Amino acid sequence: MFRIGMLTSGGDCQALNAAMRGVVKGICSKIQDVEIYGFQEGYKGLIYSNFKMLTSRDFSGILTLGGTILGTSRQPFKMMRVPDEDGLDKVEAMKHTYHKLNLNCLVVLGGNGTHKTANMLREEGLNMMTLPKTIDNDLWGTDMTFGFQSAVDIATDTIDRIHTTATSHSRVFIIEVMGHKVGWVTLHAGIAGGADIILLPEIPYDIDVVVDAINKRKDAGKRFTIIAVAEGAISKEDAKLSKKELKAKQAQNSYPSVAYEISEKIQKKTDQEVRITVPGHTQRGGSPCAYDRVLSTRLGAAAAEAIIDGDFGNMVAVRNNEIVRVPLAEVAGRLKYVSPSADIIKEAKLTGISFGDA
Ligand code: F6P
Repeated sequence: MFRIGMLTSGGDCQALNAAMRGVVKGICSKIQDVEIYGFQEGYKGLIYSNFKMLTSRDFSGILTLGGTILGTSRQPFKMMRVPDEDGLDKVEAMKHTYHKLNLNCLVVLGGNGTHKTANMLREEGLNMMTLPKTIDNDLWGTDMTFGFQSAVDIATDTIDRIHTTATSHSRVFIIEVMGHKVGWVTLHAGIAGGADIILLPEIPYDIDVVVDAINKRKDAGKRFTIIAVAEGAISKEDAKLSKKELKAKQAQNSYPSVAYEISEKIQKKTDQEVRITVPGHTQRGGSPCAYDRVLSTRLGAAAAEAIIDGDFGNMVAVRNNEIVRVPLAEVAGRLKYVSPSADIIKEAKLTGISFGDA
């Protein structure tokens, strides 16, 4: 009997189910007797031994289904070594569940925090196999995470729709895009949606440059300006502050999010009407796009292959359109940022997009 545990952890995204389907179909095509333990709501299910026994049938018909059939939760890595309210040692509890069920391997689908915990469990001696999920695309070691392209499509659709109303009313529109501390979704959706200004955490903005770009468009007879803002975008002044100083400053302001802060700054410096749109969690919702269905299926099947090979302790990843195995020790704790000197930024600038930096 071959026993695998599986869990999805962190924020959900499109193609989680498609990826699990790929893993299960891949394993069941080669091994006859497989027991699948589906841990409920992320690492919580492993800690408290809350699981469902699943069969390959449970993974049929879920290729296009959004969310995760296992449920998910955020279990911050820094809290893993802190006992829970009943004094339970969570790391020991996870190891206990794994050994009690006599698992051959634990398959984990998640983003950055999830990978730190997965690597810790590997160091504790568990056979780990992970898959890179997150709309943010900020996981080091893979060119692309599944969920990212679907989120880009949704954010792009939002920008497309804003164009018509922005031009009708001659307004400046700020669309705030998810992405946590990185600007991948904003950059791609901004370019795809024809944004005039794109503000990313990796390129701190100068509000005077932003206002100048807006004014130039108005002077050229353009009826609107579209600004795609990453939720983690930061001004040049704030980028100079220490983490502590920034936290204190943010605690004092009353802006619900960065788009509101930028909107106020623009309205103080121009006579233009500004509106804000925040697509929020719609960017993580619904059915995966075709690209994510393909990527997650490939990654799932490749994870199955690695499991069958007995090659544990890796994340399956895509690099130059090839699926590779990357050691978890290399992935854990490393974020993948947009490089301000990347070709894509240079090319976007050549087409007239302002990044608010010069
Ligand atoms: O990591 C995915 C993500 O959607 C980020 O883009 C965003 O900052 C965060 O999760 C939102 O978290 P929550 O779902 O807890 O509101």
